[in-house]
Amino acid sequence: MDYRFYKKQFSYFTIDNYFTKEELDTIWPELESYQGKFQNEAAMNRSGSVSAKGQFIHNDHLVYNNVSNKLFKVENPYETYVKQDIHFKWMRNLLYSTRLLNYYDDEDFYDTHTDFSVYTMVVMLCKEPKRFVGGDFHLTDINEKIEFKNNRIVFFPSFAGHKVDTVKMNSKDRNKGLGRYSITHFFYIPLDEEELPILKQQANRWK
Ligand SMILES: [Fe+2]
Repeated sequence: MDYRFYKKQFSYFTIDNYFTKEELDTIWPELESYQGKFQNEAAMNRSGSVSAKGQFIHNDHLVYNNVSNKLFKVENPYETYVKQDIHFKWMRNLLYSTRLLNYYDDEDFYDTHTDFSVYTMVVMLCKEPKRFVGGDFHLTDINEKIEFKNNRIVFFPSFAGHKVDTVKMNSKDRNKGLGRYSITHFFYIPLDEEELPILKQQANRWK
């Protein structure tokens, strides 16, 4: 896991080589098994133009979930995150998450929007060698471009505007699962009082 922290009007970070080879071997068969089960979505924004075009699965039962949240399990979260920016202390309270699997083929994109969670993590994946151009990730409020890279994650506050630019593929590669995969994790702070003792218990790790 190769971290890179960025401190702009807000802080965010990327991790390259997020999954190990073994983890990727677990994840890919599952991702591929979803080909053909995706729902095409062409979301509209308020002005009536298309704001996203791609394929979506809202799924909370991926095998993948077992390995995906490992950024919270690092040995010393204070050293790793809080020392970079005290705002990352919010991470200790993030006990609840939902996930969205997206697949972008030729001409697919996701226009600027914000999420309603506290933090968002986007995992970028593709088959090697990469057969598309574009599909880069942008934090639009601060004009930051995070280039698409296989096995890279971006972790940022969900209030931040973000978008994915258009994926372009040669005609021979289209519609074969060779495009851009992303798995978005929306992390929330639970509102249920029953979870407060768990929060308090794990707070010590983040002092
Ligand atoms: Fe989003």
